[in-house]
Amino acid sequence: MYFPDARKLLIPMNSREIRQSFLDFFAEKKHRIVRSAPVIPAEDPTLLFTNAGMNQFKDVFLGKGAREYVRAADTQKCIRASGKHNDLEDVGRDTYHHTFFEMLGNWSFGDYYKKEAIGWAWELMTGVWKLPKERLYATVYQDDDESLELWKKETDIDPTHILKFGNKDNFWEMGESGPCGPCSEIHIDLTPDGSGGPLVNVGDHRVIELWNLVFIQYNRQADGSLEPLPQKHVDTGMGFERVAAVLQGKSSNYDSDVFAPLFERITALTGVAYTASLDRPTDIAMRVIADHCRTLTFALSDGAMPGNEGRGYVLRRILRRAVRYAGTLGCHEPIMFKMVEVLAGTMGDVFPELLKQQATVEKIIRAEEESFLVTLGRGTEIFNEVVAGMKTAGSTTISGADAFKLYDTFGFPLDLTRLMAAEVGLGIDEEGFEHCMTEQKTRARIDRKDKMQVQDDGGEWLRFADEQPTLFVGYETLETEATLAAARVSGDKLLVVLDKTPFYAESGGQVGDHGTLETAGFRLDVTDTRKDGEQIIHVVTSARDKVRDCTITPADVSFDGVASVEAAVDRDRRVATERNHTATHLLHAALRRVLGEHVQQKGSLVTPERLRFDFSHFSKVSAEEIEQVEHEVNAEIRKAAGVTKHSDVPYEEALALGALAFFGDKYADRVRVVDVPGISIELCGGTHVGNIGQIGMVKIVSESSVAAGIRRIEAVTGASAEALLWQEYRNLQEIRHLLKLKADEEAGPKIRELIEEKKSLDKQLQESRLAGLLDRLAASLAGGEEIAGCRVMTERVDDVGADELRQAAIALRERISCAVGLLCGVADGKVSLVAFASDEAVKSLKLDAGKLVREAAACVKGGGGGKPELATAGGKVPAGIDKAIEAFVASVKSALQS
Ligand code: ALA
Repeated sequence: MYFPDARKLLIPMNSREIRQSFLDFFAEKKHRIVRSAPVIPAEDPTLLFTNAGMNQFKDVFLGKGAREYVRAADTQKCIRASGKHNDLEDVGRDTYHHTFFEMLGNWSFGDYYKKEAIGWAWELMTGVWKLPKERLYATVYQDDDESLELWKKETDIDPTHILKFGNKDNFWEMGESGPCGPCSEIHIDLTPDGSGGPLVNVGDHRVIELWNLVFIQYNRQADGSLEPLPQKHVDTGMGFERVAAVLQGKSSNYDSDVFAPLFERITALTGVAYTASLDRPTDIAMRVIADHCRTLTFALSDGAMPGNEGRGYVLRRILRRAVRYAGTLGCHEPIMFKMVEVLAGTMGDVFPELLKQQATVEKIIRAEEESFLVTLGRGTEIFNEVVAGMKTAGSTTISGADAFKLYDTFGFPLDLTRLMAAEVGLGIDEEGFEHCMTEQKTRARIDRKDKMQVQDDGGEWLRFADEQPTLFVGYETLETEATLAAARVSGDKLLVVLDKTPFYAESGGQVGDHGTLETAGFRLDVTDTRKDGEQIIHVVTSARDKVRDCTITPADVSFDGVASVEAAVDRDRRVATERNHTATHLLHAALRRVLGEHVQQKGSLVTPERLRFDFSHFSKVSAEEIEQVEHEVNAEIRKAAGVTKHSDVPYEEALALGALAFFGDKYADRVRVVDVPGISIELCGGTHVGNIGQIGMVKIVSESSVAAGIRRIEAVTGASAEALLWQEYRNLQEIRHLLKLKADEEAGPKIRELIEEKKSLDKQLQESRLAGLLDRLAASLAGGEEIAGCRVMTERVDDVGADELRQAAIALRERISCAVGLLCGVADGKVSLVAFASDEAVKSLKLDAGKLVREAAACVKGGGGGKPELATAGGKVPAGIDKAIEAFVASVKSALQS
């Protein structure tokens, strides 16, 4: 229990007031209060989920970006269920871990440092919130005596409560790479008698960390080394749910008002009450469900989707875990989707996306739940089979591979398998399971490295440290005179940075511009343009020496004495790209009108040749819907409305204008808005046509599925659309010509007629072949040897289907009253055998075609059978056919002689 005198010391506040008092405190200290970034990080492939408040400021810490303020504070939505910071396995079993939580934070970007960070933290905790000082502990990094002294000087903390720890506890890192530095943490002792000092940092729920103050000063490189940053920053993070519980006198985060409405709903849905016990299975289950529904709801509201890899797979596993725990509460039908409403209702005012996306999120979660409930059943069946197999084999330990299969294929966490095994008196080879797990993790890590490599490659080779941001003038012009800022050779490429440029660098799905850079002496061909922080980098892959009039390698270009550079973008390519980009916006708007508002952009690629657009939608887009979308967009294009672009619009204002802002949009305070009045309005940094009439026309060329709930359309515009239609038109003309159609005649009926005609001709052909074959075989039968009054025939007929042989045999056995025969042949490398015996041969002579064909088939390594009257067999060895015929005759003879 929480320390007994707690209530006396505390001021009553609900969680909403606690959140606000934090923000007010820092607003007072001249901090800009910013919005939480989405939990799905934009443009950071090193992170699956936003895992700390500082993520959105990573570029500022690395010196690659800037904000118009130097102090900020917010509450940040965080998910820690993968990667470096992963709390998934702890959730439910203790009182203070979550996969989703809010992180209250304050930041200094090269402004204040340790003294203020420490002083203010203490002031808020003990001065404003009145937490008992004797219960608080401060930890500092082992080498950071400066912080230790500041704690003594700036606060009245008990000096014996300042403790030193090493890298594991007091050096904070965002991930495998990125900003990092020593940190100082504030912990609270919740033991009844205040004896918790020794429990700091040992993972005991009675003494927990509340606030982490990080002094960011390094960038961890991909190779593990630390690179000092140009400036020093402060990054703090406080667990909102923890502080709410402590201030409300609760011993568990789950007992605060943050979780109460969730437990109420779970009880209403399952009839099970929450008793706040640490180890009662139903209480563990309820904590897991309450936690997981938050993670899912927030992630999905920010545009994520459950899936089979990466982020999607983490979410899918979280959902499956929750569904399984619902089973512990006796509930075997979808309930998670019903939790979304509770969150939207209680947190929708702070996080409006919950309200906006509620219907879509409910739909996705429900579909996932339904499908896993099916898998769960199948997984349980597999489990039972495994157990049955083990009983037979007398084994008592479920193999690691089986446990892993249940985990991996059926989403069974190890603890479930363990529990189910214990119930039937079995154990699990956990080492074997870990081995399979490690193998999979290694595979996943290699996969992630591969992905990061691309980024690193981009990040590394493009990087020009400490250079000026490039001014982008490419919205207004495609040519400009500029001065050289930096240039360097990278492999066979030359990378050039100018003070300003009209070249658009790849971003937001739009590819980078091509074009030329010219100095007095050289002409450089730019075949890609990339961005690194705020620098635009021209990638040069070939060059010409204008004086010597010859081609040279980019590395040989000299910038000695160069005063200015003429930068010119390849205009045709750029304009073609713009057509596709504006068309993407029109398609997006039309899809939302035709299919519904649940349509959200999930990805896009805009090149000069075509556009690709991925969006959320739960079924195939029908041909009629595609036609309607395309039809509406083309009607709009013919209206030729102007496109207006507004730069530097405050984000909130843009949203108020109705601009669509989606997952993948770069998070920023001020945004650019692209507006086609009355048709489409979106946040977008890309380049666009001035008037939608320039698009000419849009032609959708494909519709497909990319992942569960995500569809993709591809389309062409302008000259490419024209070219495509011409190609199709020429094809059609040729067809019409070949069919000798009249000008107003349609090709379809004529082609159908031809197909029917061909079918009937094929049939006729087959019949006449069979008739010819039959004539030949009948003659052979008539001339066959007679043994004991029975006519015996054998005949090899190649390249005739098994079915035709069978038909022939049926006809032959009627021709002569007492006869037996074998037809065989090779078609497509396969041997077919058919044996027949006439009624009399069967009745009076007891011949059996089934037995006879089996004996013959043995010679061609085949098998078969049938009735005494007619039997068929197949075989694999054509070379054995003669033997088969001999065997047949021998069998007939021996049958007739006996
Ligand atoms: N970024 C720091 C953390 O997440 C504050 O703990």
